[in-house]
Amino acid sequence: MAEPILEVSGLVKHYPLTRGVLFKKQVGSVRAVDGVDFVLAAGETLGIVGESGCGKSTVARMLCHLERPTAGAIRFKGQDITQLSGKALKAVRRNIQMVFQDPYTSLNPRMTVGDIVQEPFEIHPEAAPKSDRRRRVQELLEVVGLNPEHVNRYPHQFSGGQRQRIGIARGLALRPEVIVADEPVSALDVSVQAQVVNLMERLQDEFGLSYVFIAHDLSIVRHISDRVAVMYLGRIVETGSDAGIYDHPTHPYTQALLSAVPVPDPAAREHRERIILTGDVPSPADIPSGCRFRTRCWKAQERCTREVPLLAVPERFRDAAGPVAHDSACHFAEERRVLPPDEPPGPHGLVTA
Ligand SMILES: Nc1ncnc2c1ncn2[C@@H]1O[C@H](COP(=O)(O)OP(=O)(O)OP(=O)(O)O)[C@@H](O)[C@H]1O
Ligand code: SF4
Ligand SMILES: [Mg+2]
Repeated sequence: MAEPILEVSGLVKHYPLTRGVLFKKQVGSVRAVDGVDFVLAAGETLGIVGESGCGKSTVARMLCHLERPTAGAIRFKGQDITQLSGKALKAVRRNIQMVFQDPYTSLNPRMTVGDIVQEPFEIHPEAAPKSDRRRRVQELLEVVGLNPEHVNRYPHQFSGGQRQRIGIARGLALRPEVIVADEPVSALDVSVQAQVVNLMERLQDEFGLSYVFIAHDLSIVRHISDRVAVMYLGRIVETGSDAGIYDHPTHPYTQALLSAVPVPDPAAREHRERIILTGDVPSPADIPSGCRFRTRCWKAQERCTREVPLLAVPERFRDAAGPVAHDSACHFAEERRVLPPDEPPGPHGLVTA
């Protein structure tokens, strides 16, 4: 594995749960992120997947310092950024930029594209002298495949895909080393999603970027990621190479998620098994004891109510070679292939340009 650029350990974000209007009293906490650990190597893409509300965006916001963690460390090139403030923090923040989900609401409708892409230079004037900014903005627009002559247009004059290109250009303005993309293509038409994903891949090669790529679409995540982390109720429950997660999943939750992935080939579809999970996701304000997945797990046993399963290579796979030997937080982890073998690129027909 290449040198780590980002190391996240014991990351926690709890929001106080209050009652009363005048005299607010804390009656509990929403454990949105509840102990997340991962490493992002330089130049790689880590995909984060999981159902709505499992804490993906909260992790993203903490990585970009838009929100302070309740506990834990985020090390950028070895330095814990959660402990920094003032100038030192500002210097590091430049290096980790975010691309947001919704290109319709994340761009200010009253600002021209030029001003939007230039905005990061207002916060970090040292990144580009004033006289050079217009040229830099035009260069950035060109890099993301937009016409540099359109700097004076407004967001509503662009399509969804083009707007996301503007969001990406803004994310690149300060030449960051890490991009945290929170559902960057979820709001786009399927046909446009592939173009934006392909653009992100090209930019990664061109600028040596490292990506944390968050999405709930497992096919897109597989296409772009080198490694994948599956989140459930504020924690990572399984993580490994894309081959490990997609072809050799060992955690019941991952197996259930994968079993719901649309399979384009009708013959293959007939042979695959759907795992239907019963019950709703518990509230993050009331997380089950032991294994947090146990209330929906068909394999749950008494041990699962008492003992929190740790995220590590399960005992039975420790001596195994290949992608099956990856971290899985389950006491009874076992391999179960749910996707048909040699699956084609996916429902979106993503192809690398
Ligand atoms: N400011 C806040 N105050 C209280 N609870 C919050 C706050 N922000 C997020 N939460 C809760 O934390 C949990 C995780 O939210 P988060 O937005 O990180 O999930 P997500 O995985 O990004 O979901 P989605 O796929 O819908 O975007 C949710 O239960 C959410 O309601
Ligand atoms: S630890 Fe138990 S409840 Fe949790 S995923 Fe494994 S079998 Fe299911
Ligand atoms: Mg989210």
